[in-house]
Amino acid sequence: MSGPRVEILDSATDVAERAAARIAAACAAPSPVLGLATGRTPLAVYAALRERIAPGGLRLDHATFFNLDEYAGLPPGHPASFASYMRRELFDPASVPEGRWHLPDGNGGPAEADGYEAAIAAAGGIGLQLLGIGRNGHVGFNEPGAAHDSRTRRVRLTEQTRQANAPDFPAGTPVPEHAVTMGIGTILEAREILLLATGAAKAEALAAALEGPVTEAVPASALQRHPRVTVLCDVAAGRNLRRMAA
Ligand code: GLP
Repeated sequence: MSGPRVEILDSATDVAERAAARIAAACAAPSPVLGLATGRTPLAVYAALRERIAPGGLRLDHATFFNLDEYAGLPPGHPASFASYMRRELFDPASVPEGRWHLPDGNGGPAEADGYEAAIAAAGGIGLQLLGIGRNGHVGFNEPGAAHDSRTRRVRLTEQTRQANAPDFPAGTPVPEHAVTMGIGTILEAREILLLATGAAKAEALAAALEGPVTEAVPASALQRHPRVTVLCDVAAGRNLRRMAA
């Protein structure tokens, strides 16, 4: 069957280990360019990568990284920003130098968004893009209704997404209402995509994305049109899928 290749693994730990192995393999290339994601799902992947980083072992300091998205309206260095998350979870522990990791400018306008696209292109495009999926099928911060040819731009977050991400913010600090995200069109230009989904809360979104119609109502359904997508999910997230791992 064409379309995404789905691997249903026993546990979220297995998903993280498999994803870390795939990322490590991609980083064995001379000048790897990776697209990364934030959220709770990839935390275990970054932990697994940190464990692999060792002298003579895995190195990430020669790779170039582009993250999917960043909140709007947060001051630089805010602990809940995706830049802080990435520094904490991967870039600092992996000694990735500044200048080799990039996130969209959450406070930038159209010129900065276009500049982000240009930087990805100048790096030779993204080789491997890591993705999570929101409960409403969003990827990056491309909420339902996002055009499948959309590019990096400022977007408004849904109430559902803001509530889902509220635990990442200190009590009393509201989740921003806007963000800047790579578009679906940007994401689809990655040469290979690794979509991760763990936990029962993602089961419905994953089934809609992989087995439902390709529709702007489910942003992740656009991945059905990409020739090289691997989905790594645990049994809880995969439980609504009709098809099983090949
Ligand atoms: C977030 C991010 C996405 C992420 C998704 C799921 O808001 N912008 O990149 O994939 O929501 O997050 P989680 O893994 O925490 O469920």
